[in-house]
Amino acid sequence: MPPASGPDVLPPAAPAAPGGSPSPAGPQASPPLLQVTDLVKHFPVRGGVLNRVQGKVHAVNGVSLSVRKGETLGIVGESGCGKSTLGKLILRLIEPTSGSIRFDGQELTGLGHSQMMPLRRRMQIIFQDPYSSLNPRMTVRQILAEAIAHHGIIVTDDYAGELERYIDQLLQRVGLRPEAKHKFPHEFSGGQRQRIGIARALAVKPEFLVADEPVSALDVSIQAQVLNLLMDLKDEFGLTLVFISHDLKVIEHFCDRVLVMYLGHVVEQVPCMDLHQRALHPYTRALLGANPIDDPAERRPLTVLQGDVPSPYDLPTGCPFAGRCPLVTDRCRTEMPPFTARRPDQSVACWAVPENAGPTPA
Ligand SMILES: Nc1ncnc2c1ncn2[C@@H]1O[C@H](COP(=O)(O)OP(=O)(O)O)[C@@H](O)[C@H]1O
Ligand SMILES: [Mg+2]
Repeated sequence: MPPASGPDVLPPAAPAAPGGSPSPAGPQASPPLLQVTDLVKHFPVRGGVLNRVQGKVHAVNGVSLSVRKGETLGIVGESGCGKSTLGKLILRLIEPTSGSIRFDGQELTGLGHSQMMPLRRRMQIIFQDPYSSLNPRMTVRQILAEAIAHHGIIVTDDYAGELERYIDQLLQRVGLRPEAKHKFPHEFSGGQRQRIGIARALAVKPEFLVADEPVSALDVSIQAQVLNLLMDLKDEFGLTLVFISHDLKVIEHFCDRVLVMYLGHVVEQVPCMDLHQRALHPYTRALLGANPIDDPAERRPLTVLQGDVPSPYDLPTGCPFAGRCPLVTDRCRTEMPPFTARRPDQSVACWAVPENAGPTPA
């Protein structure tokens, strides 16, 4: 793995970024910027000699969520639970099977290409592996210039001069030296490439960012640097963020609130502050490495997730987590638990969690 820093990486204190606005008063005070209701995505599975549809992968199964302006919402779950599919649906990079996506009050489903264009500028994505999303034949300058031109970010008589200044500023803001713009993506380390991916997203001055496992492919030593950069940029640009990760510890530190996904379903929604005390769903607790709260056999060893996630091709009836749950009962195997509020700021889908879980822990 290439080193974390190199000739192209600047020390942490970098000059101010172009554009952007200060963070809003606070997520609590803001209306939802994004509202998703009953979102479903089924992928057809084809096979046989005639390549007929033989079934479907239930990647996202009726997810509802909202994100307030300035908020960072985490989405966590094991591999294959539908996190990336949900992220792509939100940005309409793929079409939903059904459901609604409202961004800043506007329904996105059904919008045509030209109607989506201005919204695409406002909603950007950072991928896990920026290498596969950066054109290997283009220099960093060309990659950034393309995005800037596509969305008409620079409007001035001195376009060429302003473009160079803007690209230099952007690169400096993500911690890269301006000279880096003349290089190709393969000439950078993983962490540096992710900085380029972030610069490309920021280049079009978005308000909303989906970060899909942005540090999962990076060395542990570099993960913190990139996370800190994202956190600084979020405040500086007043961004609203959906942060996807399989690692609840990262989410806990980075996000205001988390949605816990299992097999395309949201099983818990909970604020990240004091997550260990607050988490109610046995799956969330297992991800935290904690025992389930209502476990009568409290002396049992720490919950370690047993077994595999069932295939989303062949979904079980009842609760999707039943096959691995330490608190499973017969009802769980036959009836899907409803997703209901247990505290004012917390909802859970689980038969074992009491209807009123009491006041939020101090
Ligand atoms: N284009 C696709 N065609 C068919 N199945 C897909 C496609 N994209 C994702 N899937 C399936 O949908 C499920 C959820 O995938 P994904 O959203 O990538 O999960 P995660 O990001 O949580 O790992 C997986 O079973 C995956 O194999
Ligand atoms: Mg993914």
